[in-house]
This record gives sequence, structure tokens and C-alpha cells, in this order.
Amino acid sequence: PGGDGGSSSPAAGRTVPSGATAPQPDGTGALPPGAGAPGIGDPDFPSDGNGGYDVARYRLVLGYDPATRHLSGTAGIRAKATQELTRFNLDLSGFTVGRVTVDGRAAAFERSGTELTVIPGRPLPEGADFTVEVSYAGEPKPVTGSSNLGTYGFIPTRDGAFVTCEPNGAKTWFPGNDHPADKALYEFEITVPEGITALANGELTGEPVTRGGKTTYSWREDHPMVTYLATMTLGKFTLREGKTASGIKNLAAVDPRFRGSLDKLYTLSGKITDYWATVFGPYPFSSTGGVVDDFSAGYALENQTKPMYGGFSPGEGIIAHELAHQWFGNSLSIKRWKDLWLNEGFATYAEWLWEEHQGDATAEQTFRLHYAAPAGDAIWKYAPGRARPDDLFNDSVYTRGGMTLHALRRKIGDRDFFELLKTWNREHRYGYVTTEEFTALAEKISGKELDALFDAWLFQESKPAA
Ligand code: ARG
Ligand code: ZN
Repeated sequence: PGGDGGSSSPAAGRTVPSGATAPQPDGTGALPPGAGAPGIGDPDFPSDGNGGYDVARYRLVLGYDPATRHLSGTAGIRAKATQELTRFNLDLSGFTVGRVTVDGRAAAFERSGTELTVIPGRPLPEGADFTVEVSYAGEPKPVTGSSNLGTYGFIPTRDGAFVTCEPNGAKTWFPGNDHPADKALYEFEITVPEGITALANGELTGEPVTRGGKTTYSWREDHPMVTYLATMTLGKFTLREGKTASGIKNLAAVDPRFRGSLDKLYTLSGKITDYWATVFGPYPFSSTGGVVDDFSAGYALENQTKPMYGGFSPGEGIIAHELAHQWFGNSLSIKRWKDLWLNEGFATYAEWLWEEHQGDATAEQTFRLHYAAPAGDAIWKYAPGRARPDDLFNDSVYTRGGMTLHALRRKIGDRDFFELLKTWNREHRYGYVTTEEFTALAEKISGKELDALFDAWLFQESKPAA
């Protein structure tokens, strides 16, 4: 997994002779020979992720105590060098780093902002598979300052933690390559005070083990996952487990305050997952479900296999949205944040499809409702095909993104449109996608020239003709 994450971008992995270029404020300037770049090459988020290697697997062995808010543990990272590496970076925000090893041998490290630079005793040759282990501890601090993203990352709560990391908050709880262009598999071994439940992605690998007042939960996600979808949600939870009608494992978990939402969350999650599998193609992961915690985030997040609802009882629309992300965003992931409409426009359109399926408003009616916004409306001034780093989750990325899909459906007809959704998923399952790949596939399947349509809907800062 993660084949083209670091190596294909202009900034990633390049080697600049020392002194050739002045260091840039974003940290992507001059690098010593053989150094992995401090960013993966996303021009809008220049210091997110890193260059020079691809992560294959994370093994996170972590302990957390809600009373002291102390997190400590070890992150084991298996990766492949995509260039010779005399040093490379991981992203990590806060904490005290104790010890770093590369292939079992102590390595030097430096820290600057959210960059952790690892300097192995001897350079890693291009193509080498290697293991990094980082021991660290401290009080996790979520990301707060950024105006329109709210609070995200590892958010301590009264009884545990609410962990939702989009776009780049994974670094608030583990060191890694914190950008969607490098997927990996995950193992979690999480130790918490007895009585607290630890929920992570994928499946429990055995019964939780309690010893000396502490319980250890082992989870593993065996399908490629981007860093922002990883979670270790902790707290008191009421659980309901079973299978959907089509046989997919289903787990719903709610904070005791939301006890009344448990059955609805469980039932709807199962029903909607099964329905999406008929529309988008086979469910990509080993289980479905959802978590309601009592932190009022003001948003939900499509954490892989376990979408998280922040302090509210979710209705059908948002459940349909977060579960659609398991296909659009989680199985098929964006390489660059500017393509975010490939996640949010599709998940929003899925809400409209669910309503249509329920016999409520048709997608055509919902489209018309939104299209009625006057020409001066903000939605027409923000081009959804170019999500802006300072306003990533703008309504246009969601609603105008969804309208783009409906405009496409009108133009190519239902048969080609729904074949396109399935083919898109089949061809890019567990992979990375770009807007250009989607528009090319739409043209291929429909046999129509669609440049004008996509240009007007995705890239113009004005209201498209309907
Ligand atoms: N992907 C999420 C959703 O559409 C939104 C996440 C918003 N993130 C944030 N930090 N505000 O459901
Ligand atoms: Zn979404």
C-alpha cells in the first residue's frame, strides 16, 4: 500500500545539495544529501506527511489514563525507503520522545515544530524495508487554533478520549506519515483503567485482558488506512454487536448519555451499509457500525469501520453520509487535499440518494433546491474542485460537489452514472484517486465529452448554467 505516496510528487524525496537553496519557512527548502523531505508534496499542506519512504504498517502500543491525561507508549513503524535516506522525518505534535531505534539500533533524532527527524546510524539504501520504533509520553493536545476546523486530533474527555483526526491530527497521538497519500495497516494495543472501553479501527483480535486494575484491548485494521481515519476512542460505552442482513459485522457503541440512540444507530448503520454495497459495490472493510461519544465536536468523522458522531444522536442523513465515506474517502483516498470533493461531494450526494431510496425527496428535487441559491451566493464563489487549505470543509465542497454529481447524472443518464460509481470503486479499491481520473472515467463510460460540465461545476467561481 501507499505505492505512490511519497515518490511521485515534486517536493518529496528530492535531494538538494547543501547550500543550494535557502530553507523555506514551510520547511521544504534546502535538505542535506539523502534527507527525506519534511513534507509529502501536497502544495497546500507543505509540511504534512514526509518524503523518502512509504509506511506499510503501524503498531501502536499505548497506555492512557483519563484521570492524569497521560499517554505513553511505543509506535513501531514498518516502512520502505523510496530513496537513499541519511535521515527522514515523522510528524509528531507534543510529547517527550524517549528513545528512537531504526532496525533495532538506537538512532539520533531532532525535533522542530511537529517534525521529528530520525537520523539512523547508517544510511538506509533505496528500496530497504526498515523498522522505526519511537517511545514517547506526555499529555496529548488536540489541534485547536485553526479557525474553521474546530478541535480535532486526540481530544481528552471526562472519561476517556474522543479521537477524530481529519485533516492532520493523527500527529497529536502517534508519530507517522500524517497525510492521506500514505496508507498503511494498523495494530493497536491499548491499555486503560479497568471499566474503560478502548475502541479502535477494524477488529478486536481477542478478549480484552484485565490485570492489576488495567485492561488491554488489541485491535487490528487489516485494510489500508490513512492516518486521519485511525482512532483510539476511549470511555464508558454501551455496545451492541451483531451482523447486518447481508452478513457484515456491525458494532454500535454509545456513551451512556446516548443510551437511547444505540438501537437506532445499530439498525440504521447495518441497513445503510447493506444498501450502499448494492449501489457502490462490495463493502470494502471487515465491519461497519458507529460510535456516539459525549464530546460536542460539531461534526462527525468517517473513522474507518467506526464513524464517530460527536455529541449528538445521528439521524439517517449523517449516517448515510459517514458510511458512504467508507467507499469514498476511506477505500478510495485523495492524494491531495484540493480534491476533497471526491470525498465530501460524493458523501453528500449519497445523503440525497438515501432520501430518494426512502421515497422522500428525489435527488433531482434536492438539486433544484440548492440550485435555487441566487447567483451572488457564496456557494458559487468557491470552486469545489479546488478545496482551499484555509477553508477546506466549505459548504461548496459538500453541496456544490454533490450538485456536480447530479449534473453529471442528468447529462449521462442513470445507467452510465451508476455504472460509473461502481467502476470507480472497483478500479481504485484501497487506492488513491484524483479528480482528473474521475472525469476521465466518466468520459470513458459515457462516451461523452464532459470538459465543459466539469469545468463549470468544479472550477468556475460563478453559478453554472443548469
Ligand atoms: N469528513 C467529515 C465529514 O464530512 C468532516 C470532518 C471535519 N473535520 C474538522 N476538523 N472539522 O463528515
Ligand atoms: Zn463527509
